Amino acid sequence: MIFGTCYECNVLGTLAARTRAHGIATLGRETASDIGTVTEALGHRLFDTEIRLKNDAKGIVNLPQEIPFHCDYPKAEFVVWQCLNPGSKPAPLLLKDGLAVLAHMTNDEIDALSSIKMIYKCRIEEALLMSPIVYSDGNRRFNLTYNPWSLQRNLTPSQQFALDRFVGLLRDQAFLEAHFAEGDFLIIDNRRILHARSALHPRSDRFLMRRMISGAAGYPPAEVVRAVS
Ligand SMILES: [Fe+2]
Repeated sequence: MIFGTCYECNVLGTLAARTRAHGIATLGRETASDIGTVTEALGHRLFDTEIRLKNDAKGIVNLPQEIPFHCDYPKAEFVVWQCLNPGSKPAPLLLKDGLAVLAHMTNDEIDALSSIKMIYKCRIEEALLMSPIVYSDGNRRFNLTYNPWSLQRNLTPSQQFALDRFVGLLRDQAFLEAHFAEGDFLIIDNRRILHARSALHPRSDRFLMRRMISGAAGYPPAEVVRAVS
């Protein structure tokens, strides 16, 4: 197991509820041997990404550099990583609880944070979308979609103040390290748990399969910026 028993889920039928309750769940290969079974327990597959170093890398996940704390694709309620090869060098994922960060912010600061937009390419509608980095819905008071390289520019002073507060509190928040053994699954609530990665060894052979999953909680509110081809 990755963390120990508090996040371990050995009943697939309760996996979605447990992940929503704790933010994080882990499964060993004795509970689930394939990612399709895990997906069925959570919702619907959106898309997969191979997380390993590649010579012809175009995306940051296939390069060795450090990746700062962020949420993944906003339309994914859950992100699942399956470890296909832990690699010969330790390369944990780092996890922080975004709701614990927001708990230290005032309502005015959170309102300002909610007015800041993230711009991202929607893989479903093939459009550029804009959605708030914090929003409420019928399921939960606060949902996070923070991603530092997708933020809108030209913030107002109150937005910049709120963002600086959030980033400072996030930096000071304790983190968990997720260490993988072959066959392990790590599942996070992508609207709550932020993840990061230390730099990989330049010849790291770690190989994770990452799957974005749309669960019952639906999508964040979004405005179309423009269609893309
Ligand atoms: Fe990510």
